[in-house]
Amino acid sequence: MTDSGDSTVIRGRRLNDHELLGPLPDVEPVEITVDGQSFRARSGEPIAAALMANGIDICRAMPESGESRGVFCGVGRCSDCLMIVDGVLNVRTCVTPVTEGMRVETQHGLGQWEDSQP
Ligand code: FES
Repeated sequence: MTDSGDSTVIRGRRLNDHELLGPLPDVEPVEITVDGQSFRARSGEPIAAALMANGIDICRAMPESGESRGVFCGVGRCSDCLMIVDGVLNVRTCVTPVTEGMRVETQHGLGQWEDSQP
């Protein structure tokens, strides 16, 4: 978890002061878990943005080769950012906003629904 100590400012790997757009506005932080580890995110930002800001670049592993995939298009048109979110498989994390308490997991292959696990 990275932040400046101010409860409304979240730093990490973010562009906090854009040359043209100006400073990133303060928002309420939310807490999410990624593969069981807690992270702070900016309320409403895409899951993938929160992950990248916290140093996580891998979203899933390919079904047959096991190769890692991360954000590619960033606009919901490919399938490289698919992850398991709150038990739901194949969620495009680049276009899905974070919410408080969200549980995000790396998807291995095609994934497995929670109720089908032993
Ligand atoms: S990165 Fe392509 S759909 Fe998310």
